[in-house]
Amino acid sequence: MAKTERLDKVLSNMGYGSRKDVKKSIKNGLVKVNGNIVKNNEFKVNPYEDDIIIGGSKVNYREFIYLMMNKPQGLVSSTDDPLTETVIDLLDNRYLAFKPFPVGRLDKDTEGLLLISNDGKLAHELLSPKKGVNKKYYVEVDGTVENEHIFMFNEGLVLNDNYKTLPAKLEIIESNVFSKVYLTIQEGKYHQVKRMFESLSMKVIYLKRVSMGQLLLDDTLSPGEYRELTEEEVLLLRDS
Ligand code: URA
Repeated sequence: MAKTERLDKVLSNMGYGSRKDVKKSIKNGLVKVNGNIVKNNEFKVNPYEDDIIIGGSKVNYREFIYLMMNKPQGLVSSTDDPLTETVIDLLDNRYLAFKPFPVGRLDKDTEGLLLISNDGKLAHELLSPKKGVNKKYYVEVDGTVENEHIFMFNEGLVLNDNYKTLPAKLEIIESNVFSKVYLTIQEGKYHQVKRMFESLSMKVIYLKRVSMGQLLLDDTLSPGEYRELTEEEVLLLRDS
């Protein structure tokens, strides 16, 4: 059976304003359902099937949203923070209505791929240690990363709390006094990448996540920009 909801509820849940605001829009004849103006805010609609238009724009109803952000430095990856701006503060109101949250954390000074969604089940699966979803980082390091380190990362490193990391894949891009590498890890321990290099007496000076599972950061997004995932990207994430 079709799932029906009150028109005013659907519109306010979708971020078109408070219940009061949307009731006003409905009363003023700004809302059409299947081509007809509807002035009754209790009118029942099936938001998945009915064609709902408000103020000329089509309501794209869905339960979940999936956003890819290129997280900028200086923001924290949480939903609210008393002191610092959060990644959620960057989002447009029409997304806030879905109550999205960051899926996993990047440090305040880390850039790159951050998934923001309200799909708790997918978030749980992506973050589950059992699943070991790969996270790939571009890392700039104060220190000379050499071929012998590839083996050490692959063997696992002992961090400052005595935790031994799972095998990680190191790819050297440039080896010098300062080095550039890619590092792929399956875990997400606190400050993990920084602490892995610290265990080798090297300091991470720039960190950017470039992929999570099969989802790659869209390199046309500047830090602070975000976009919705395509359907294909959502499927890729589910398969990760
Ligand atoms: N590892 C870190 O040290 N910091 C991050 O933000 C992510 C992984």
